[in-house]
Amino acid sequence: MPRPRLLIAGNWKMHGLAADLGEAETLAAALAGRRVRSRVALFPPATLLDRMARAAQGRGLLVGAQDIYHEPSGAFTGAISAEMAKDVGASLVILGHSERRRDFGETDAQVRLKVEAAFRGRLEPIVCVGESAEVRDAGGTMARIESQLRASLPESLGEQRINVAYEPVWAIGAGKTPSLEEIAEAHEGLRRVLAHVIGDQAQATPILYGGSVTAENASAVLAVSGVDGVLVGSASLEAADFLPIVWAAEAASEPDGGFESWLRG
Ligand code: 13P
Repeated sequence: MPRPRLLIAGNWKMHGLAADLGEAETLAAALAGRRVRSRVALFPPATLLDRMARAAQGRGLLVGAQDIYHEPSGAFTGAISAEMAKDVGASLVILGHSERRRDFGETDAQVRLKVEAAFRGRLEPIVCVGESAEVRDAGGTMARIESQLRASLPESLGEQRINVAYEPVWAIGAGKTPSLEEIAEAHEGLRRVLAHVIGDQAQATPILYGGSVTAENASAVLAVSGVDGVLVGSASLEAADFLPIVWAAEAASEPDGGFESWLRG
């Protein structure tokens, strides 16, 4: 089975006002009209979804939500449904990010409901898992992330498209990353879990790495076997930081391993 198309995703978290839409505009302008091999997506706060999606439309930039609530509508003050995010132009959604799990008490069971809601609302989920520093220090990384993924996925995915992101909690915003071997091992374990749920399709399911990805380390991370993209936080806020990561992905997905880009300079 061929390697999935790389997904280069930028999570703006709780950053961004209307004045920052220029960054998305710069990114869209750089991508527009090029034959970009990777899929490139930004996840702004919900307040900017509508305007960013309009600016991105038809220009090779996808836009997604950072979270949804699992119900389609109802008396759930402050919540946004999959249908609502879709309605303003989102095509993807991040689910179970460690900040949602840690700061808002989100459980695997809730993430699972949200994955089902995303399917219902025709949003493509990125399901995040990752171990804390304590779990890592106790040698429990693989057991933790595999059980998180198992419990965060519905029993059957049918034909639905899904992405997984491995984001070690201790690496997020910390300027630290696991070794490339550790990333490879984590991705292999997660793909085994996926294979139990979706069989051969697991090979075609993108598994992203996230946690302190920058222009400096993106090429090395994207060259790791089993890494099908990156989920980037702070280095996605400015196009000048994010674009080099996109170009690193382009080089990584060239059949000649980037020789063509090297020639182009
Ligand atoms: P940083 O890239 O800022 O470490 O954040 C990673 C992340 O949490 C992306 O979802």
